[in-house]
Amino acid sequence: MSNSLEIMAVSKAFGDKLAVDNLSAQIPAGSIYGFLGPNGAGKTTTIRMIMNILYPDTGGIRLFGDQHPDQCKNRTGYLPEEKGLYKKMQTAELIAYFGQLKGLSRTVAKTRALALLKKFGLSDYATKKCDLLSKGMGQKIQIIATILHEPELVVLDEPFSGLDPVNVELIREVILDLKRAGKTVIFSTHAMEQAEQICDFIMLINAGKKMLDGPLGSIKKHASQTIKIDYHGDSTLLQNLPGVTRINDMGHVAELSLIANANTQRILSLLVQRLEIRSFSIAQPSLHEIFIRTISPDSPEPTTPHTTPPKTTSFQTMSSQTMSSQTMSSQTISPQTSAPKTLDAQPGAKPGAQAE
Ligand SMILES: Nc1ncnc2c1ncn2[C@@H]1O[C@H](COP(=O)(O)OP(=O)(O)O)[C@@H](O)[C@H]1O
Ligand SMILES: [Mg+2]
Repeated sequence: MSNSLEIMAVSKAFGDKLAVDNLSAQIPAGSIYGFLGPNGAGKTTTIRMIMNILYPDTGGIRLFGDQHPDQCKNRTGYLPEEKGLYKKMQTAELIAYFGQLKGLSRTVAKTRALALLKKFGLSDYATKKCDLLSKGMGQKIQIIATILHEPELVVLDEPFSGLDPVNVELIREVILDLKRAGKTVIFSTHAMEQAEQICDFIMLINAGKKMLDGPLGSIKKHASQTIKIDYHGDSTLLQNLPGVTRINDMGHVAELSLIANANTQRILSLLVQRLEIRSFSIAQPSLHEIFIRTISPDSPEPTTPHTTPPKTTSFQTMSSQTMSSQTMSSQTISPQTSAPKTLDAQPGAKPGAQAE
């Protein structure tokens, strides 16, 4: 499979702040690729360099196999992080205008704008001015403007931020539709649940550095397992379980991170003695858990981050439960002592290590 984009040892500093530090990645054509990381990680800076808005201090970016030629411009669609519309323009006019900037004729741009407005349930707003739109509607309009010219590569900076669940669902469908149509989609987010559901590949960035990347399915497969429980009772009783290195407790649902070779039967028996356990499963870790393991200050640096194999791997959705970064509290019980580590075939903690 060819790559739509290659990021080659790119660095970018603002004054003495190194926003992106020697970052490399390959984005396979036809994939959904998530740039993940906490606020300030360097996602937007990386995206702006991809879009040629910022120039790297060192390193390079190869788009469609070329070195940023201007002709690539119409083959990409870009939703910036700072979203805003020309308030006094009518929505269909505004969308068509963006389409024309990307090389469409006025007639084609207008026809597609009306068709997409209909698809997004916004036909009634076609002749309304943009300042009448809600935030969710405005974001949908901007997404329409981003994809109107049917670009091969769509880059969306925080497309889900601030949206209600219905609109999150809609944007997710848009991204999946783009993939079905053979397009490549890169999006940034700090919300792991969105990435978990749709990404083929992810790159985790922290403090400007790549912590890991690769096919999501294989990253999860090689990470050490977790126990997921649905419980009722005093959450403090979740502590001091043998072989559990960390707890992500969401109140009624918890994810317990395990050392290699943890005795899960023993853990289950202890849990049942302490709490009402409504469900118990041994599973691959959620992306939230992988994220925390990778970037938590008590975690050693990963050894060698994955390099993206040129192969799309289907990923696995963990479970129906939604792991919200906002609502989940994470607690490290016993710092992991081997490479995350975990993420590259090695299980999370040193074999034999036990929780206190
Ligand atoms: N134009 C700029 N001037 C100075 N610092 C910046 C600028 N843009 C980004 N930064 C800094 O670079 C770091 C990475 O920012 P950014 O790429 O926006 O992160 P993210 O999108 O992952 O939240 C942050 O510390 C941010 O404050
Ligand atoms: Mg950003």
